[in-house]
This record gives sequence, structure tokens and C-alpha cells, in this order.
Amino acid sequence: MELNRRTVIAGAAAAGIAAAAAGTGTAQAAGGTGSTRGGGRPVKTLFGRLADGTKVHSWSLENGGTRMRVLSYGGIVQSLEVPDRRGRYANVSLGFDTLEEYVASSPYFGALIGRYGNRIDKGRFTLDGTAYQLSVNDGENSLHGGAQGFDKRVWDVEPFTRGSDVGLYLHHTSVDGEMGYPGTLRTKVAYTLTRDGDWRIDYEATTDKATVVNLTSHVYWNLAGESSGSVHDHELSIAASRYTPVDSGLIPTGELAKVAGTPFDFRRAKPIGRDIRTAHQQVLYGQGFDHNWALDKGVTARPEHAATLRDPSSGRTLRIATNEPGLQFYSGNFLDGTLVGTGGRVYRQGDGLCLETQHFPDSPNQPSFPSTVLRPGETYRTTTIHSFGS
Ligand code: BGC
Repeated sequence: MELNRRTVIAGAAAAGIAAAAAGTGTAQAAGGTGSTRGGGRPVKTLFGRLADGTKVHSWSLENGGTRMRVLSYGGIVQSLEVPDRRGRYANVSLGFDTLEEYVASSPYFGALIGRYGNRIDKGRFTLDGTAYQLSVNDGENSLHGGAQGFDKRVWDVEPFTRGSDVGLYLHHTSVDGEMGYPGTLRTKVAYTLTRDGDWRIDYEATTDKATVVNLTSHVYWNLAGESSGSVHDHELSIAASRYTPVDSGLIPTGELAKVAGTPFDFRRAKPIGRDIRTAHQQVLYGQGFDHNWALDKGVTARPEHAATLRDPSSGRTLRIATNEPGLQFYSGNFLDGTLVGTGGRVYRQGDGLCLETQHFPDSPNQPSFPSTVLRPGETYRTTTIHSFGS
């Protein structure tokens, strides 16, 4: 049974949560306000400097029992802490301790992704009769916006408090032609922690020329705590009867295949590890799960339920709601034991997983997929809400 989150926080506070909160190295550091309920103004500290001297800041915010640290570099969620069923906090998001590691070798840990989440075939598409060639950075394809995507930009960050919400506005203007994309894209992302401890992301963008856009967030979740090992015993459900199969380069074939009778059937919650070693061609292509699920609800005016993740050992749960039509479930297949996380331990394959709400990969080349075209005068708006429980 899922307990009411506010009840848990109140109960934990009564049981003396201050001691429990020291559970991870970053737990104390992230608590900017000193209270477990939070709600204070976000706190800014210097995190590091890029090679050209540009300052990168870290912002700590806390509300409703959820604590997070966000970097101006890439809009990266460096840590996100939530309590388990006994009120013990852990950082449930994979990341690094230093800016140098993010710059040198991050597989998009915690980052904002743009202009286009996931792959575009050979980095090419045609819009209104004009052919565009994007930056190619994944074999012959363009991945997550190209070589210098939004994950590698320093965003302008502005804190806010609004009613019982606490948050950050992140702004980035991507110039016409950046990474091959047409149009100057003005992007504003709001990260909000609500009084219930939900983390809400609101994306907005406008353009001065017709373009394509597909923004998402690339947090790697491990609800048992980052550095605690594999997520294969986490249980996942995805509200999708179909997914988009891919070719060997992970580009969708254009088919919307039924999940029924395949390892891709997460309509009822099941452990991630249950079918991950099934010798299914699609699992082989992804070296695990690395696919877009076509959510049954499709594009919706308001965020609707997409997926639920649960760690049976800690009791922590994450529910995701979005108005996007797709969800990329990536089971951390390319983590290979070469990166050391914030907990001082090595990340290996399957030590974290991503649930990226999005339009479908390669939509600019797939006329049957929901459109990702944005035109002057229109405003791109999408919202994803992460709700935590235990
Ligand atoms: C993609 C993976 C890719 C990973 C990068 C995911 O969104 O689907 O194929 O390797 O991002 O870390």
C-alpha cells in the first residue's frame, strides 16, 4: 500500500528525522533551509568553472520533503533526495561530484536534453522543402541535440517562490543554425518542487523560423539510492500497449508494435530484470531496454499518468505524469564500470534507468508519428510531473 507522502514526512519528523537525514554524503549539503519540509528560497553556491572561466553554480532547493541540487551547466539534477518508508533519505539520481567529470564524460546524467531528445536518422531531415544536416554524434546519427546539446550549455537560472511552490527558471537561447537546427529557439524550463514534494518540469520554447523541438530530462533513477547497485529488481509499469521498434542503430522502423507477448509488456508492473535477458532481437539491439513506448493516452492537454517505478527494498516509488505521447525507457545499458558516481562507487550496467517523457525519436523523418514541428508564433509547451512516495 502506498502511504500518503505528507503523512510519511510528518511521521518521520516526529521520529527524529534529523539523524536519519544524514544517510548519504550529499544529504546534509542539499538541505538548504535546514527543515525537512523546506519551502525556503533556493540557495546558490559556486560549483566550478569551465575551461574558458565561465562560472557554473549549484542551486539547492527543498520542499514537501524532496531535496534537489541543480547545476546551471546543462540544467543538471546533480542529486535528488527523498525518504524511504522509514523516513531515511537517499539520493536517487546518478551523478558526479565535480564539474570536470560532467564536462569530460557524462552520459547525460541528470541533464536537460535539447533541441531534440533521442535520435534523428543520419542527423538529417527536411522541413518545408529545405534539407537540414544536424551535428552527428552517435555513429551516423544525431543524439540528444548533437555534440553540444542543451546538456552542455550554461543556462541562466533564476530562483522563484510562488505560493507554496519553490523552483528555478532556466533560460537558454539557441541561435539559428546551432547544431544544424533552423531558427533561434528561446527556451525556458521551470523546475518546481511542490508542497507535496513533487518535482514538476514545464518546458516552453518559441522560434523565429520553422524548426523541430523535443525537450526532455535525462535523470538516471535508482530508488534504492545511487551507488547501491542494480535497478533490476525495481518494478516498473508503463501505460502503453505499443512501442516503436528500432533498427540496429536504434532508429525507429516506423512501426507501432504491440507489447503483448514480448519483453516490452510493462502494462502490469514487473521487475525490470525479469525479461531483460530474453533473446529478443529488440532487446539485443538495445543491449537491454532502450526504446520508446507509445503511451496509450497519446498527446494530452494536461499531464496524465505514464509510468510507475517502485523499489521494493526501500518502498520508494516514483510516478510520472506527462502530456507527451512517448516515454523512452533506457535501462542504463551503456554504463560500463568506467564512471565513479557521487557516492564514490563505480556505476555498472543497469545501476540506473531513465524514463524520458518525449515525442517519438526520429519524428522529423516519420510522417505517421505525432509532429515535432514548431513554427513562428506558436509556443511549445510540455509538462512532466514526478511524484514520489514510500
Ligand atoms: C538513449 C540511449 C543513450 C543514452 C545516453 C538514452 O536516452 O536512448 O540510447 O545511450 O540516452 O546516455
